[in-house]
Amino acid sequence: MEVLQIRPPDDEHRDTLLAFFGHKGKTWLPYIRESVAGELVEQVQDHYFLGLVDGEPLGGMWFAGSTANQMEVVTLGHVFTRERARGRGVSSGLTERVKTFFRDSLRGRAIYLATGFGFPRKIYEKADWKSVQPGSTVMRWIAQGPKEDEAFEQEFFAPGALCKTRIVNLGDLGSFEALLNARTIGMTDAGLGLFSPGHFEEQLLTYIRDPNVDPLIALETQDRHRVVGMALVRRQDRRQRSHVGSIEFALHPAYGDYFPELLQALRRAVPQDITHLRAFAMPDGHPRVQWLSRAGFEKKAEESHQVCTSTDPVVLLPLQTWALPAKR
Ligand SMILES: CC(C)(COP(=O)(O)OP(=O)(O)OC[C@H]1O[C@@H](n2cnc3c(N)ncnc32)[C@H](O)[C@@H]1OP(=O)(O)O)[C@@H](O)C(=O)NCCC(=O)NCCS
Repeated sequence: MEVLQIRPPDDEHRDTLLAFFGHKGKTWLPYIRESVAGELVEQVQDHYFLGLVDGEPLGGMWFAGSTANQMEVVTLGHVFTRERARGRGVSSGLTERVKTFFRDSLRGRAIYLATGFGFPRKIYEKADWKSVQPGSTVMRWIAQGPKEDEAFEQEFFAPGALCKTRIVNLGDLGSFEALLNARTIGMTDAGLGLFSPGHFEEQLLTYIRDPNVDPLIALETQDRHRVVGMALVRRQDRRQRSHVGSIEFALHPAYGDYFPELLQALRRAVPQDITHLRAFAMPDGHPRVQWLSRAGFEKKAEESHQVCTSTDPVVLLPLQTWALPAKR
């Protein structure tokens, strides 16, 4: 098998790539089209791999990350082998190639991916991917070797770096997988879809293009550009009043002191017609509650709420609603 590696912009292989990933649907196909044309290079570094036999692509995969953080953490996806070529090592061959390239040429640290509980998971396990948390469908491969798994996260989110906020871009996908699936983050107890453990893959694209999500802010370390927090304001759905925006956020506890800065960035960027912000948190004791109350949020209600986790389909948990005027 010959491996064709495509790094946008690439006019020569554009049609081959689009034809191979033609099944990717309405979220990803437009992305791939823009990506291979080079329209996204300022935001995201995409790497496509196709496995060719007699010049015909039989298998493929892709990973993406951010040049700004030197491709330290990336997301692998679009893993696909044509039906008639399955079971002949195409995917495992490409996976090995991806790992070698990522580790040796890019000097990257971790490759995240989302999979189910079916047999593809076995392929990744054999190739040294591990679930980020027990039972999670998100898996991670550590370039330094599986023994470094624990140390990786401690070092990656080590406290003390100076941080700044900025607008999120498509290159943040891998960074968000790392943040939202960090073992210490305890996001499983929050009530919003964003915070259920699981993959963020399609969500980021949807959020970036959703006019009801505005703004979308990342908090990153100034030295290595590692994303340690993210927050967004989502306009209420049609049953609720449109001047209320809901804040969703994820902040690594090592950077909890930065919550006011994250909030300030949101309030600066929130559209004029949003006059109130709403946030959710688990009752008492959780860092989210402390962050919200210290920042001036007032508790408005306590209610039952459905939370999905990857291990338990639906759990009912009490949830607090907090509110704050959207002063700018
Ligand atoms: C998953 C997929 C990419 C595997 O591609 P592939 O080229 O057939 O994989 P390989 O031939 O490299 O096989 C890798 C391992 O999986 C095993 N495997 C492949 N197909 C299998 C099947 N249907 N059931 C059980 N095991 C299977 C192989 O035996 C091999 O294990 P081994 O090394 O111990 O022999 C392919 O089946 C596919 O495109 N499926 C649809 C899309 C998909 O599910 N993508 C993954 C999303 S996470």
